[in-house]
Amino acid sequence: MQTDPMQRGKFITFEGSEGCGKSTQIGRFVQLLQSRGLNVLQTREPGGTAVGEKIRNLLQHDEDAEGLSEESELLLFAASRAQLVREVIAPALDEGTWVVADRFLDSTTVYQGFARGLDIGAVQRINAFAVGATMPDMTILLDLDAATGHARAVTASGGEGDRMEAQPLEFFEKVRNGYLALAEAEHERVRLIDASGSIEEVAGQIEAATKDLFT
Ligand code: TMP
Repeated sequence: MQTDPMQRGKFITFEGSEGCGKSTQIGRFVQLLQSRGLNVLQTREPGGTAVGEKIRNLLQHDEDAEGLSEESELLLFAASRAQLVREVIAPALDEGTWVVADRFLDSTTVYQGFARGLDIGAVQRINAFAVGATMPDMTILLDLDAATGHARAVTASGGEGDRMEAQPLEFFEKVRNGYLALAEAEHERVRLIDASGSIEEVAGQIEAATKDLFT
């Protein structure tokens, strides 16, 4: 299938808690799209623009962010996303490129809303303001039990977890439950994938779940 410049690209986001295998599966999925002849742009949150990468560094690794209030954290994630949408995602979709994002607004709903416990109505309004009309066509949610995911993430980072990975296990249990609640509430958009299998098994599930993007 060739990319039709007159046709808007599709926007697919990947979500899930730490250690769920998101990066590996995103790489596989991008290859699958490219093998269909599509132009694909891969991006990540927080980050994806020069300003966004600075916000990412601040949020994840800067010791000055240790005293960051939960409200400021929410607004920084939203600021990174507002920039990414306008500078990268919306222009790419307009020119027919498909966009695959490692995290998007559901991460804010789940991490800052469900897990941190900020007012969910406020989180949703801020999310809506940040993204405007640019909503994902489909979201792949990689579901894994919190203890396994957290252990994998800590191993992958060589024991040097970032600010989020330093949270207690209970936080990641809230993240998982938040994602599951979201998948139930928005089952049309959010496709729930069991991420406990092998890389091949999970990739196969994603391929099956995304078939209707090509119809
Ligand atoms: P990761 O993408 O490498 O997993 O790291 C991003 C971290 O930031 C992860 O712990 C989830 C967290 N996060 C939020 O808390 N809210 C957000 O809106 C986003 C995009 C990420």
